[in-house]
Parts: sequence; structure tokens; C-alpha cells
Amino acid sequence: MPLLIPGPSSPLLTQRLAEVCGYRVAKVSHKVFPDGESYIRVEDDLKEEAAIVVQSCSPPQDKRVMELLQLIDASWRAGASKVIAVVPYFAYSRQDKVFLPHEALSSKIIAKAIEAVGASFFVTVNVHSELVLGYFDKIKALSVDAFPEIADYLASLNLRDPLVLSPDRKRYPDAQRVAGLINGEAAFLEKKRDLKSGEVTTEEKTLAVKGRDVVIVDDIISTGGTIVNAARIILKGNPRRITAACVHGLYAANALEKLAAAGVEEVVSTDTIESQTSKVTVAKAIAGAIKRLLEG
Ligand code: R5P
Repeated sequence: MPLLIPGPSSPLLTQRLAEVCGYRVAKVSHKVFPDGESYIRVEDDLKEEAAIVVQSCSPPQDKRVMELLQLIDASWRAGASKVIAVVPYFAYSRQDKVFLPHEALSSKIIAKAIEAVGASFFVTVNVHSELVLGYFDKIKALSVDAFPEIADYLASLNLRDPLVLSPDRKRYPDAQRVAGLINGEAAFLEKKRDLKSGEVTTEEKTLAVKGRDVVIVDDIISTGGTIVNAARIILKGNPRRITAACVHGLYAANALEKLAAAGVEEVVSTDTIESQTSKVTVAKAIAGAIKRLLEG
């Protein structure tokens, strides 16, 4: 039977996957040397079983990426027959292409490194850009969708006449899918980001939100700037309540405080990055993908 190899960043999700899949969690030891280098050892003998490494690459991303590569390498050395790399949050996926000349193509570097250490398959959740999956050209790479689970959670909130808002035209299809699942309406705003300063500006738009519950959905909340801009625009229309929902809650630079100050009453995310807002689990969605890969 396959074994789950828990990465230091994803203990809760690994445990949930064990419950859903019925697989055992292998013993892994990890430490940091005094000079900051990471050490990983898979203590079990994997006896020619498939190993499922679970390691999100949330902050501190660079360290998590190194640990991920070590986990894959150590799984082979412990006798795995194949290694599935489950990376619920794929760091650097927003650097999915070269925006300015001579930039490093960070997401491709990570994809290549994962292939180079010998992963047999790659699974992530709501990858920021499909381009990233294309950088895996030796192994099958797939992204599973957490929005149905997020929609289930939102449905349990008994929202009043919900408007599901994408803060950016690019994410509108996600808002439409969530709206469809909770019998709401979908809308989007137009956002622009300055490539050099990173500053986000959002165009004003009048939306019919009076007395309604508005859910702003995005794949990632990092500094919270995108959602704060959207909340400011929405508040002008007197909604009943604003909720923010994302797959990956990074919450850099006091993002949660900024969201609360901007009138967002609740923030919900998944356990791709484990935090106090992880009210939705992606365990079932990932388990389905693992099963398909192992049977496939
Ligand atoms: C960007 O394209 C993503 O979909 C998110 O909108 C973005 O990463 C959010 O970042 P922040 O919270 O810093 O505005």
C-alpha cells in the first residue's frame, strides 16, 4: 500500500489525506543545521511501495522548495517504487512567464528541479497559471480544483442573495463556477498591477450590492492589496456583508489585519497553506487525483 511522506509544511493535510485514502504516514525526520541548511531523512523502509510526498511551498518558500526536493530524493533512497510529489501550493507560480527582459523564469526552475530529482508525477491545487504545468515535460503534472469545496463551505453560510466577485477579470471563470454552485450571481472588477512596483490598482465599477452578501474570490491572497481594493469599491454600494475566499492564504505583510480594516468580515481559505483561516480541506480533491494516477 502507498505511504504518505509528510513534509514539514503540511502535517495537517497529510493526516487528512491519510484518513481519506487509508494510507499510512511514514516517519520522516527533519532538522535545520546551525548554518541554516535543511536535513531530511525518511526513516521507514518503503519496500517498493509508492511514496506520496506532501509538501506545500508556502513561506519560507525557498526552504520549502529545498525540503520538497530532499523529500523526493530521500523517498527513492528509502526504496519507493514511484514518487508522487503533492505540492498543494506551488510557490513562484505567479512568475509563470518572463514579464520584463532578463527575468528568471522561477516557476520553470522549480518544475525542472522536481523532475530532475525524479518525481514520477506532480499534483498541485489551483495552480495560478496553466503555463506552469507545461514546464513539466517529462512527467504528468496536474492541478486539482478546490473551488467546489470552497463553494460547499460558502453554501453553509446561508448567504443572502450572494454576489460572487472576482477582483480581476482573469479569475472571473472561478467566480462564475462558485456562483453557479451557490445559486449566486458573478461579477468581476478590472485590476492592473505595476510590474516594477507591484502596486495594484482597481478600476471603479458600480455593482448592485445593496443589502446583499458579497464574496470576493481569488486563487491567492498575499498582501491582501487586491481584496482590499475590491472591498473598498464594494462598500460604497452598502452590501450586507463581505467575505473573502481564496485557495491559498499566504497573508504576507499583515494581510488579515488589512482585510479586516477594509470591512472584510470573514476570510476563508483551504489547507493548501495551513493557517487559522483554513476552513476548507483539499484532502478529498487531492486523494481523487492520487487514486487516478496510481490506477492510471
Ligand atoms: C494575482 O494574479 C493573483 O491571482 C492574486 O490576485 C494576487 O496574488 C493577490 O496578491 P495580493 O494579495 O498581494 O494583492
